[in-house]
Amino acid sequence: MSFMDSFKIREKFLSFFKKNDHTIVPSSSLIPAQDPTLLFTNAGMNQFKDCFLGKEKRSYIRATSSQKCVRAGGKHNDLDQVGFTARHLTFFEMLGNFSFGDYFKKEAIEYAWEFLTKELNLDPEKLYPSVYKKDEDAYAIWRDDIKIPEKRITKLGEADNFWQMGDTGPCGPCSEIYFDRGQQYGCGSKECAPGCECDRFVEIWNLVFMQYDRQLDGELKPLEQTGVDTGLGLERLCMIMQNKENVFNIDQLQFLIDEAQKFSGKNYAKSSEKLQASFHVLADHVRASSLLIADGCSPSNDGRGYVLRKIIRRAALFAQKLSDDNKLLVNLAYSFIKHMGAVYPELEKSKTLIISVLESEIQKFAINLVNGQNILEKYIAQAKKESSGEKKNILSGEHVFKLYDTYGFPPELTGLLCQEQGLEIDTSGFEQEMAKQKKLSGKKMKETQAEEIIVKDLSTEFIGYDTLENESSVQFVTNLNDHIWLSTQESPFYVESGGQVGDTGYIIVNDQKFSVLELKKAGDTFAPAILVKIANKTVDNQDAKAIKLGDSVKSIVDKDKRLSTVKNHTATHMLQAALTKILGPQVKQAGSLVNDHYFRFDFTHHKALTQKEIEQVETLVNQKIQENIELKIDNKTLDEAQKEGVLAFFGEKYNPEQVRIVRIPGFSKELCGGTHATSTGTIGCFKIISETALATGTRRVTGVSGLQAIKLFQNSFSMIKCLCEQFKAKPEKVFDAVCKQQESYQEALSAVKRLKRQLTHARIGQWAEQITPINLSEEACKIAGESVSSIPFLYLVLEDSSSDDMRSICQELERVKPGFYVLINKSQDKANKRFAFMGYVSKQYANILNLKEFSLFLKENFGIKGGGSPLFIQGGGTELCPKLNEEIVRWVSKNA
Ligand code: SER
Repeated sequence: MSFMDSFKIREKFLSFFKKNDHTIVPSSSLIPAQDPTLLFTNAGMNQFKDCFLGKEKRSYIRATSSQKCVRAGGKHNDLDQVGFTARHLTFFEMLGNFSFGDYFKKEAIEYAWEFLTKELNLDPEKLYPSVYKKDEDAYAIWRDDIKIPEKRITKLGEADNFWQMGDTGPCGPCSEIYFDRGQQYGCGSKECAPGCECDRFVEIWNLVFMQYDRQLDGELKPLEQTGVDTGLGLERLCMIMQNKENVFNIDQLQFLIDEAQKFSGKNYAKSSEKLQASFHVLADHVRASSLLIADGCSPSNDGRGYVLRKIIRRAALFAQKLSDDNKLLVNLAYSFIKHMGAVYPELEKSKTLIISVLESEIQKFAINLVNGQNILEKYIAQAKKESSGEKKNILSGEHVFKLYDTYGFPPELTGLLCQEQGLEIDTSGFEQEMAKQKKLSGKKMKETQAEEIIVKDLSTEFIGYDTLENESSVQFVTNLNDHIWLSTQESPFYVESGGQVGDTGYIIVNDQKFSVLELKKAGDTFAPAILVKIANKTVDNQDAKAIKLGDSVKSIVDKDKRLSTVKNHTATHMLQAALTKILGPQVKQAGSLVNDHYFRFDFTHHKALTQKEIEQVETLVNQKIQENIELKIDNKTLDEAQKEGVLAFFGEKYNPEQVRIVRIPGFSKELCGGTHATSTGTIGCFKIISETALATGTRRVTGVSGLQAIKLFQNSFSMIKCLCEQFKAKPEKVFDAVCKQQESYQEALSAVKRLKRQLTHARIGQWAEQITPINLSEEACKIAGESVSSIPFLYLVLEDSSSDDMRSICQELERVKPGFYVLINKSQDKANKRFAFMGYVSKQYANILNLKEFSLFLKENFGIKGGGSPLFIQGGGTELCPKLNEEIVRWVSKNA
């Protein structure tokens, strides 16, 4: 077999299915579009999910693609295996062919067989199909049509041969094709056959016969039409076609191993199996992390961001086994971007972002990686020591949690390190600790209490692009939890989507007026019904009359809110265009919010914008506003729009058959279903208010447009005017004037301090003269020694002294006459009765007077709270007893 590289294999697959009437569809992003059931795109069929469910119709019923996939979390998670088997990867490409209500089992099996045996010339004797144990049809096709001997067809259970995308959604029995790589890869067991975990029989192609829609309660609801979804792992196929030991040695990954050898100085071929695993992990993880970042994912502490963080941290751990240089992963990322830019153009576009995110993540983790491992060593030693009987070599959940909480070690990483030393981790113990912490921090899982309304076969025509009022008839109405939900055939109300808030307004039905409380879409994704929620009471608090199907409804959108929102929405398109022009084409939208007050726009960028860049962006947008460019809106297929380079937002689900393109000719073109200004001039004015970091590699800009922007300028102007008057300076000098005043203020403050110190010093003599002795009890005299019969005492009431001042007075007094001093500082403000208190006793009297006991006396009798040492106490109270002085003298003479 002559060498066939991965490019050729991919190309052969797509053209084979094209030849068989399949439409080639580009790969979708690794971040699934609006699918909360999915962490990452994990199969070629993800982008066709609604086609299988019959919710979406396209112009084709046969498709083929080469889809970027990540399996590192959620239902299909291969992360823990990567590095240790010949065939698991977190990132891979899935070649696939799909039928939506067209061909089914027979053709799917025939196409697969023809491609493998005729196009690729694989030896039919080495191919082993498996079928779902209850799928007699598929079994018969393999046996009777393809003529595979029965002994080569394996029947497997649900775990292997019933495929589903997630816990819910389209699913069905499947038939897999295994390739026998020969006994040398086998486990040696007599039972070794397709389905065995060893590396002999490699599953290369999975043919899924879509028949059901799995419901939340587990029920298998038959689909209205059957379908075919197949997945052929490109890298596994290359491993076989290129006759390589494992997927890491194929052309697309081996070059990364070569690069890792170069950077680390380690020889892959001569390395132990353990060290080779490190090469494998790095080659895989650098692909997964770079492509995830390029598709807009950024590391964080939950959801997809956390999985990305785990991948990077796992890579950092294995990189450390190859080299001390913690730049190894980043260097590999450079090589990956350079070599694979032709296959994945998004890499070059997001190069700076990828590098800076990886650098910053690794830098943050590097110290923890070392410290955490040291702590882990101790925990492991302890666990081994305690291991006996039932408590066998297990790292406690508490320790796993500690490593997670303090050192950021994902439990999987701890598990991996423990495994190397023959230990397991207590996963459920870890989860208990995690739950405890969540409870402590009062975090509760969000409860979803959405009012679920099932609307079948209804859609509403949205006419709110052109009009803000209309009359239409009721096509659906229901009462739910004291509210009425209704839907009309046409509606001007915009329902929140694409970052733009929903409209507010009124409806009038049966001569009764209601406020619109909420809006939502229901039913078909691309032609939904618009549902309007109103109260059971009218705006005048009258009870609602019954609303019937066919009743006429007048809908009135709140015009001011909508018009301000529209300006902010068009402003965000202009902002994105300006950011792309000024910062570069890699800038990608990561989220947005547009309402009638302001806009917020998140985008991927590796560093903060400078003031100059912010001004450049503002100037460019304002120039385009002044050019008063008329917006143009047209519809195309998603494919046409993408070919034209129209910007799309990765988290959005677009209708491939018809997308709406909002253009500001010569400046911006974006896919968008939102409402917009008719021309840029109506926005009037644009101003950025803030630019901050949202996450590593993601920035957030907020700003205003239209009247809000004018208001902002007015407020700022009048503020500057006030400052100018106050400082008697021109606007351009007012900043200097403020700085100057601040300097003078600081100087004056220092002078006051200095003077106060001098004043205190000057008064010490006078205060010292007021020191009078307190005669001690006989007991105290005995303790103190014969020569001592009293202790010098001063009670001093001050005003406006800080605790530093009071402390230095005590120290100066001590130099003149050692003794016991009580200082009180009252506020100058007579209404404020609070006072500060300080007690100080010289060392030589320490054995007869303990200020800790004294402070107890003050607390119990005068409510003076405070504390300190036996020689020094400080505190305060709320009302000063006028006889405190005498009371202290009495207590000292009795108790000292
Ligand atoms: N969806 C199936 C899989 O991922 C076939 O494409 O294996």
